[in-house]
Amino acid sequence: MRSSTTFLAAAATLLSFAAATPLEARYETCIAPQQWHICGDGWSGCCSVSPCKGPSIASNCPDQGSSGPRPTPTEDESPPATSAKPEVDEGWHEFCKEDDSQCNWNATFYHIKNYDEDYAKNSTVSFFVWNDSENTTELRRDAIGVFQNIPDDAKNCSLYFYNPGQGTYYGVHNSGALDMATLDTGDKEFVDAVGGKANWKSTAELLKDGKETGTLDLNNWGWTLGEKSLTNSAKFACKKEIAIHFTLSAPEEGSVIFDQVRKLGQVNNFVQRAGWVIKYDL
Ligand SMILES: *[C@@H]1O[C@H](CO)[C@@H](O)[C@H](O)[C@H]1NC(C)=O
Ligand SMILES: *[C@@H]1O[C@H](CO)[C@@H](O)[C@H](O)[C@H]1NC(C)=O
Ligand SMILES: *[C@@H]1O[C@H](CO)[C@@H](O)[C@H](O)[C@H]1NC(C)=O
Ligand SMILES: *[C@@H]1O[C@H](CO)[C@@H](O)[C@H](O)[C@H]1NC(C)=O
Ligand SMILES: *[C@@H]1O[C@H](CO)[C@@H](O)[C@H](O)[C@H]1NC(C)=O
Repeated sequence: MRSSTTFLAAAATLLSFAAATPLEARYETCIAPQQWHICGDGWSGCCSVSPCKGPSIASNCPDQGSSGPRPTPTEDESPPATSAKPEVDEGWHEFCKEDDSQCNWNATFYHIKNYDEDYAKNSTVSFFVWNDSENTTELRRDAIGVFQNIPDDAKNCSLYFYNPGQGTYYGVHNSGALDMATLDTGDKEFVDAVGGKANWKSTAELLKDGKETGTLDLNNWGWTLGEKSLTNSAKFACKKEIAIHFTLSAPEEGSVIFDQVRKLGQVNNFVQRAGWVIKYDL
């Protein structure tokens, strides 16, 4: 019997236990179209097809120069050095400057569920939305991303998504089609506008009047294209704090999960930035 764990399975664990360490080899070692695999017989490494065999045939990857199998490093043995690798991911420099002067990656994601109306979890490092509409009941887990400290003189705000050049740090199950809407919290900050706790009940009124700003399909392109930034956002009015409601449109069950990265060293020493970013002109 084959057994393999690719990132999607890892993602499921990550999202249920959001504190799971993101510092895994999958972030830095695999170069698209390869993905990180862990097989039942202990083989682990990057491969563009499933390397998992067993139990009578040892797992292996047919790729030229594939990186597995690799022994689990012991404490006094560092992992084998990988050569010809850029030191840090720089693809995001195409649209954002090093000093973040026209970009804001500092999102807090408030996660809410329509089937557990008191559920309130927020995170600055992980994002997860889900929509299961197979039957008449729509089960949804939405996210509201709040970006703070946009400068007063910012103009032409828009939303981008960025996927770093190596590794797989996000997962999509079935549909990855997201709808984004900006929220009007009036003079208040989002947290005050929802009475200090962001759950399904407290956000309902606010979300009703969301203003659609774009749709973006985060389907599995990230696994094959490497570094890439995507936007399909209209320009919207900038203000000090911007709140965006993310929902997933899914013909059956679908979900999107990823790690938001705002600085080098947050998950490893390759990825400097990842995830949602508000970009603006000055
Ligand atoms: C949808 O309904 C069918 C038939 O009742 C059932 O087999 C299936 O498990 C349901 N799916 C979900 C996601 O509830
Ligand atoms: C984002 O947060 C970092 C610290 O995590 C801070 O240094 C930086 O100034 C913040 N940027 C903005 C635009 O708020
Ligand atoms: C964010 O999470 C913290 C820690 O779980 C919680 O105390 C706080 O109420 C949450 N904020 C909102 C607005 O729900
Ligand atoms: C959830 O998915 C269903 C099926 O595609 C769609 O009709 C519905 O609008 C989605 N919900 C949201 C909030 O996007
Ligand atoms: C905002 O966008 C418009 C249209 O693209 C452009 O003409 C204008 O110069 C932009 N504003 C700033 C401050 O860059």
